[in-house]
Amino acid sequence: MTLALSTRFRRLKTTPAIRALVQECVLSPSDLIWPMFVMEGENARTPVPSMPGVERLSIDLIVKAAREAEALRIPAICLFPYTDPALKTQGCEEAWSPENLSNRATRAICEAGINVAIMTDVALDPYNINGHDGIVRDGVIVNDESVEALVKMALAQAEAGADILGPSDMMDGRIGAIRSELEAQGFKDTAILSYAAKYASAYYGPFRDAVGASGALTGDKKTYQMNPANADEALRLVARDLDEGADMVMVKPGQPYLDICRAVKDQFGAPTFAYQVSGEYAMIMAAGQQGWIDDEACMLESLIGFKRAGCDGVLTYFAPRVAALLNG
Ligand code: PBG
Repeated sequence: MTLALSTRFRRLKTTPAIRALVQECVLSPSDLIWPMFVMEGENARTPVPSMPGVERLSIDLIVKAAREAEALRIPAICLFPYTDPALKTQGCEEAWSPENLSNRATRAICEAGINVAIMTDVALDPYNINGHDGIVRDGVIVNDESVEALVKMALAQAEAGADILGPSDMMDGRIGAIRSELEAQGFKDTAILSYAAKYASAYYGPFRDAVGASGALTGDKKTYQMNPANADEALRLVARDLDEGADMVMVKPGQPYLDICRAVKDQFGAPTFAYQVSGEYAMIMAAGQQGWIDDEACMLESLIGFKRAGCDGVLTYFAPRVAALLNG
């Protein structure tokens, strides 16, 4: 292609008004899912040192934060429990207790009548004595027994009032098993947002601090989470999870995997989310605190990148800050 001399791309960059007119992608508070860490106590909060600005909150404060999400027009929150180490077992029984932290928080938000969707995490790691997402027998993460446990966990979350279940465990067959149990028990409108393409990533470090799983984890998660070198496999996983009954799919982490987001959206056209994970958040905040980057500008740039890559929304710890900014 030869460009005529009269073609000037700078014409449409001359003023803020013209730039706004030709902007292709838009980030809005309705694109956000806000992940929160729940802990025991009352009116209690503890900072997560590796995630500046993020705190674990007791259930009463989680209810307040959910109200804040509603006021900020953030449509969904996602709950992760900081579980008492004394409740972690080999069999992970606390995972399906109706009285576990996550389920109590879900009920409290429902009872408060807050207009926000509640997403919960379906994986055994917060309840597992060895920090893995599945049950461990003789050093092996056993798939089918883990799926049975995950189904019980998912049902308890649906009964507590969760609107969206987020299986993040990467066991095979869990979406189909959870979906058929939900149908059988009458939870026909409980949505599943599958962590379909979840990579074995070093970017999860600060999260594992936040939920108190770092010390517990023995070994790594490479026998169930994806190899960062693979892309075709991500598409096969998404196809499988949609086929088994997922309503929405997720790519995780986010920024290093924008190619996967784009490919998933193009191939399936399903509601597609990215998780801007704890390490991505920590890097932006840490460099900002050093004065090495402008963290607010990088926050906005990283988030519009997900929209440009085809995502319908993003799970991000920046949710309240960016929503406040976008709302003016
Ligand atoms: C565990 C889970 C992880 C995250 C969400 N759910 C960590 C892991 O797989 O070890 C990571 C989120 C983040 O880093 O922000 N099932």
